[in-house]
Amino acid sequence: MENNVQPKKRALSFIQSSGAFTLGNYLGAVKNWNEMQDECECIFGIADLHSITVRQEPAELRKQIYSAAAMLLSVGLDPEKSIIFMQSHVAAHSQLAWILDCYTQFGELSRMTQFKDKSQKHADNVNAGLFTYPVLMAADILIYKPDVVPVGADQKQHLELARDVANRFNGIYGDVFTIPEPYIKNVGAKIMSLQDPEKKMSKSDENENAKILLTDTPDAIMRKFKRAVTDSEARVCIGENKPGINNLIGIYSAITKKTADEITAEFEGKGYGDFKTAVGEAVVEELRPVQEKYNMYISDKAQLEAIYKEGAMKADHLARRTLSKVMKKVGYVL
Ligand code: TYM
Repeated sequence: MENNVQPKKRALSFIQSSGAFTLGNYLGAVKNWNEMQDECECIFGIADLHSITVRQEPAELRKQIYSAAAMLLSVGLDPEKSIIFMQSHVAAHSQLAWILDCYTQFGELSRMTQFKDKSQKHADNVNAGLFTYPVLMAADILIYKPDVVPVGADQKQHLELARDVANRFNGIYGDVFTIPEPYIKNVGAKIMSLQDPEKKMSKSDENENAKILLTDTPDAIMRKFKRAVTDSEARVCIGENKPGINNLIGIYSAITKKTADEITAEFEGKGYGDFKTAVGEAVVEELRPVQEKYNMYISDKAQLEAIYKEGAMKADHLARRTLSKVMKKVGYVL
């Protein structure tokens, strides 16, 4: 009998370990990773090397790396199905990044909006790592030859750079890298700040009311949604000058899977107060099981360690294969 089973697509993504995950990280990325685990062969990592482009206090960084590992498991990533590991445990990422640095142009990196934003924000520490960050990210991706990379909309430019570098390298040396496709969902791909809805919700926002953290208590979540900035129209519908309400509709839609029209119908004749309460409650309920699991995982470091070490071993094996191929192509003696 003919075997028609298609090989699974490979999906890969990473998240930085600097600070607790936000609702943006969750709806834009990790919730989708969780849903991809059955249909794809998945590799998910904690981008701890990327985190030091901004100065970190060592004890705090260590805590955050553990916290990120526990959170990935809590949202449902399953080490039986997916490779889960820390970027700093697989040396080949940094080795490939150096090689790819030499195939990336200064001008390309200068155009990266995240570099421009972060170098303004941390004007006293515009280090070379901040500038070459997208090349390390390209190495993270290309070394595993994934078909798809599930990310939020803010990572699109970095992903395009990774594709450009891969195409350039392949153009010189033949088909070494797979050209990865971005996987960016329509709903939830850009969750905005609750206080300034023209800006994305960010871990590093100093205003606690602007962001929902996955570790926030139900009270804090409800309070932050009640204080969310809206407009004076008082109608729950998508509109051009309604960034705050558009954002809340996006959040509610990503969780309940209702369309914007269904949400408008549901809140017809009701005020923003009712809507904000409903969004807050939906988020609290969505995060409740995640938080319960988080408390369990974070208190069992031995289990976490066993999982990320096993993940690193599997990742290392795959990464070394690609690195050797690249080194041979470039002309190194192996
Ligand atoms: P990071 O850690 O900033 O974010 C992790 C993921 O969360 C998504 N995200 C959002 N999605 C929707 N709304 C938001 N407000 C929001 N904020 C963040 C991001 O798009 C991302 O998917 N450079 C990456 C980490 C990285 C990586 C990689 C990603 C390193 N190597 C290789 C993919 C592949 C970053 O800083 O993501």
